[in-house]
Amino acid sequence: MTSSPPLPAVSARGLTYRYAGADGRTLLALDGVDLEVGAGEFVSVVGPSGCGKSTLLRLVAGLLPSQAGEVGVLGGIPAEAQRAHALGLVAQEPGLLPWRDVEANVRLPLDVTRAGDPARVQALLEQVGIAEFAGYRPGALSGGMRQRVALARALVHRPRLLLMDEPFGALDELSREAMRLELLRIWEQERIAVLFVTHSVAEAVLLSDRVVVMTGRPGRVRAVIDVPLSRPRGEAQEASPAFVEAAVAVRAALRSGDEDAA
Ligand SMILES: Nc1ncnc2c1ncn2[C@@H]1O[C@H](COP(=O)(O)OP(=O)(O)O)[C@@H](O)[C@H]1O
Ligand SMILES: [Mg+2]
Repeated sequence: MTSSPPLPAVSARGLTYRYAGADGRTLLALDGVDLEVGAGEFVSVVGPSGCGKSTLLRLVAGLLPSQAGEVGVLGGIPAEAQRAHALGLVAQEPGLLPWRDVEANVRLPLDVTRAGDPARVQALLEQVGIAEFAGYRPGALSGGMRQRVALARALVHRPRLLLMDEPFGALDELSREAMRLELLRIWEQERIAVLFVTHSVAEAVLLSDRVVVMTGRPGRVRAVIDVPLSRPRGEAQEASPAFVEAAVAVRAALRSGDEDAA
């Protein structure tokens, strides 16, 4: 007997999204976007500010209603994946509750859903390196520490797809580099699918199996660049020819938009 292949984490076809403007006009944010994220795959999305990256992530998360085109998540519609706690979300702002300590913030999704494994909380605090801060309130932590808490909270229900929207965008460069390596390490252990939005080409290449380059608004997919670097990855690979080649390809795809506009 052959087992069926694992379901793709994300499968979007012709995703198009318009926002209603205040003056009755509409703003086309996404135009016919196709996107595939395989089970356990790490895919990044890069593109100019305002090109619809967050809109795309919100559609996949089921936080925005689908208007045109299709988006499948783990073989169903996004709302089903959300109900099954199969989605984790990390945004640029950690969105922690200031009156809860670190442990209680990570535990929050379990408290809300009255489901899941409480033993997972302690394991995650250790995994993301914040166990010794379990009793601290978010206000007493650095930005990088707060994002570790947000990451642990997103993983508490053992999601099969992690959605990250510029999660390190508000961090200083050193914290950001540390968090990249931390995320790589955690992803090697968890092997869940990740859809990762970033402005940083180096970050996208270091982390990803594939990098999706979007055009300016309305967002379309301009190119999908494979990153043929071996795993596990680390800083040493940033100097390798394959890394440099992939980064050059991503930058060229991003720049080819400027020529369109000129
Ligand atoms: N709630 C909203 N109402 C109206 N327009 C919006 C809304 N959210 C985003 N937009 C517009 O849609 C476009 C895409 O936004 P967004 O997905 O946030 O882009 P990105 O994350 O790539 O910066 C932008 O032009 C933005 O101004
Ligand atoms: Mg955004």
